[in-house]
Amino acid sequence: MNKLHAAITGVGAYVPGYILTNEEISKMVDTTDEWIMTRIGIKERRILNTPDSGTSDLGSKAVEDLLRKTNTKPEEIDLLICTTVTPDMQFPATANIISDKVGIKNAFSFDLNAGCSGFLFGLATASKYVESGQYKKVVLVGADKMSSIVDYTDRSVCPIFGDGAGAVLLEPTMENVGIIDTILRTDGFGRIHLHQKAGGSVKPASHQTVDAREHFIYQEGQPVFKYAVKGMADISEEILTKNGLDHNSLDWLVPHQANLRIINATAERMKLDKEKVMINIEKYGNTTDGTLPLLLWEWEKKLKKGDNLILSTFGAGFTWGAIYLKWAYNS
Ligand code: UT7
Repeated sequence: MNKLHAAITGVGAYVPGYILTNEEISKMVDTTDEWIMTRIGIKERRILNTPDSGTSDLGSKAVEDLLRKTNTKPEEIDLLICTTVTPDMQFPATANIISDKVGIKNAFSFDLNAGCSGFLFGLATASKYVESGQYKKVVLVGADKMSSIVDYTDRSVCPIFGDGAGAVLLEPTMENVGIIDTILRTDGFGRIHLHQKAGGSVKPASHQTVDAREHFIYQEGQPVFKYAVKGMADISEEILTKNGLDHNSLDWLVPHQANLRIINATAERMKLDKEKVMINIEKYGNTTDGTLPLLLWEWEKKLKKGDNLILSTFGAGFTWGAIYLKWAYNS
């Protein structure tokens, strides 16, 4: 008997209009366009600079785009999951705020935080609800206003991140398309290299934490880079071979966009041609939970039903993983 699969049946996205260029960053900190392009591969990133706007504003615009494109009414949605590391507030969940803003009334919603692997872990989670047969229309939205936790006086971090959001609709299908296989990993030890020092229950906000700039991203670039290259390449290769795929039968690699050198190392390990690797880091930087859906959104028209895709990520936690899916529709 055929198994019920969860298939992506639409993609929506939103990036804010303001473009922060390397030239502008070079005026804030001691850096150059040449250094950023060579070491990271980013030319510009989008910034949400509208006052009193947050992650839910990015996420709700992406969900509105998704609902419009898929001709879906908000009332039809059964579940909305938002993956983010920059929630509007500690509570309630940004997912609830997005649902409220777009008029999703007949659903439950919650947030999921898995660092830069959030969207991938969210896709694995959302697909299980769909495969259970109980939920017919599930929205997964990855959204981050990274500019709210980036220290624009720290040259080792500020060129990397940008703001953005993307959303997918997941629906059940009996066809052999959709999410086929999932490998997810975490290693909490990695938190020492990448975290936000204050603002949580261990160190609530105080004058001291603000003065010490502890509400921004703390990242030790080199160890994170080392673990990211190994983690993403290993797991991408693992899911490839586990599913009997190779560089010929795989159509697309959809890698997290943290550093072009990490993406290239992963593609090389998989012996993949450049043409099969989705890359938009140059335009958007690392949007954390936005990277994977923004890639799918940009490449949507090129994707064909039955295409083999591997999505892979590495991020804070540490968290890493890969998903093998067969694309479910032609645009
Ligand atoms: O998505 C979440 C997971 N995060 C990641 O995957 C990020 C992984 N790490 C990286 O992408 C890289 O480590 C960075 C982009 C963060 C840094 O690149 P790097 O090649 O590892 O540089 P580095 O930290 O080894 O620094 C090399 C030099 C240092 O100078 P000295 O000590 O050699 O004189 C830094 O101070 O480059 C300096 N540097 C810069 N120079 C110009 C650091 N940032 C900059 C900058 N402009 N923006």
